[in-house]
Amino acid sequence: MSTTEGTADPQAWFDRWVDTYDTDRRVLIPCFDEFYGTAAEVASLGRTGAVRVLDLGAGTGLLSGVLAGALPDASFVLLDEAPAMLERAAERLAPLGDRVTTVVADLRDDLPEGPFDVVASALAIHHLDDAGKADLYARAAAVLAPGGVLVNAEQVAGPTPGIDQHFRDRWREHCRARGATEEVLAAADARMAIDLPASVPDQLEMLQRAGLADVACVFQSWRFAVIAGWRPAA
Ligand SMILES: C[S@@+](CC[C@H](N)C(=O)[O-])C[C@H]1O[C@@H](n2cnc3c(N)ncnc32)[C@H](O)[C@@H]1O
Repeated sequence: MSTTEGTADPQAWFDRWVDTYDTDRRVLIPCFDEFYGTAAEVASLGRTGAVRVLDLGAGTGLLSGVLAGALPDASFVLLDEAPAMLERAAERLAPLGDRVTTVVADLRDDLPEGPFDVVASALAIHHLDDAGKADLYARAAAVLAPGGVLVNAEQVAGPTPGIDQHFRDRWREHCRARGATEEVLAAADARMAIDLPASVPDQLEMLQRAGLADVACVFQSWRFAVIAGWRPAA
């Protein structure tokens, strides 16, 4: 059985969408398989066995579920401010038993004690402003084991206003082509009203400043990018 730590936030923004969140993921993330699949590929590169994973902004456990497929003996700490989302995650990952811990906390709080072999995140860090992102990347790098990897599958801003507008327009068209209704798009717009995405170049610089090496964007499809960096082994 999984364990839960932390205190519930009764106002958590995402809990209002807990019943519909998973339903439209493949429609709203048109590159779903490559996006989550690349994050899992990065997380599992050269790793087997009892790997320790921290999932930041884990929500309903979508990313951890994919990671568990690539790292079948891993243990997971899932952190999120939204308790109802984490309850869904605990249900999703129930087959992993006591290898799963959920922590109700803010991304700005102290992180769970490391070391972790993998610090992963999907579609969550863009809820912090740029100072908050850089601070979180530095704290995440600090809880990584030497040789550990930080991987963030993220919704990013375009590096210029013109490219950013293309990112937004392409996303809407790709979602419609996959069958997104105007109602589904309106709900996504409401969820994204608080987003503060940063560009890939800006975030790669943040990862470098956090002390990570081999920092790179390993996948990008318009506004969806997977960025990664490794904590030096020595
Ligand atoms: C779009 S969901 C992504 C969930 C999951 N990682 C996935 O890929 O489906 C964003 C998640 O980040 C969480 N989140 C946003 N801001 C947060 C913060 N400041 N502290 C903790 N969690 C936060 C939300 O509660 C939500 O569950």
